[in-house]
Amino acid sequence: MQKVKDQIKNIHKKLGIPEDYESKYGLALQLEEKHLVEIGEDIFDRKQYLSESATSSWLKMKADALNDGVQLDIVSAFRSIEKQRIIIENKLKQGQGILNILKVSAAPGYSEHHTGRAIDITTPSCEPLIEAFEFTKAFSWLVDNASKYSFSMSYHKNHSNGVTYEPWHWAYCI
Ligand code: DAL
Ligand code: ZN
Repeated sequence: MQKVKDQIKNIHKKLGIPEDYESKYGLALQLEEKHLVEIGEDIFDRKQYLSESATSSWLKMKADALNDGVQLDIVSAFRSIEKQRIIIENKLKQGQGILNILKVSAAPGYSEHHTGRAIDITTPSCEPLIEAFEFTKAFSWLVDNASKYSFSMSYHKNHSNGVTYEPWHWAYCI
């Protein structure tokens, strides 16, 4: 564990992530899930993966939503610490500042996507990863039903951490 923590610290230093990130953003360290199960393809035709327990719950939730006339599509599911590092590095290369990046991307080691329990969801009537997802039938369905499948929204409008509102990001909590 100390080795992983040191690696994350080193990554943060190289990306210019503030040393007080954890307390400032109120996010916890997230371990990378090693036992992943394929859950199908996302809207960009990339294979996506979740942990075993999140997978069965996701597939049931997706099927039940479809029965109710609601299509839930995947934008992104499991992401490694390295993938998160590359995402942030690319944003820096595009000229975005680190503090702005950290409002929408968790620091490597702190993304729920590492755990294989988080999934970014969209629906055909909506562009992926936009706040207007909250006005879709899919979002209303999730608000009413996701808890039955142990999924909940992680970053709501008035949450206490430093990440902006993400109506599309849902996590399976055991
Ligand atoms: N967008 C969320 C915070 C993440 O990067 O994990
Ligand atoms: Zn997400």
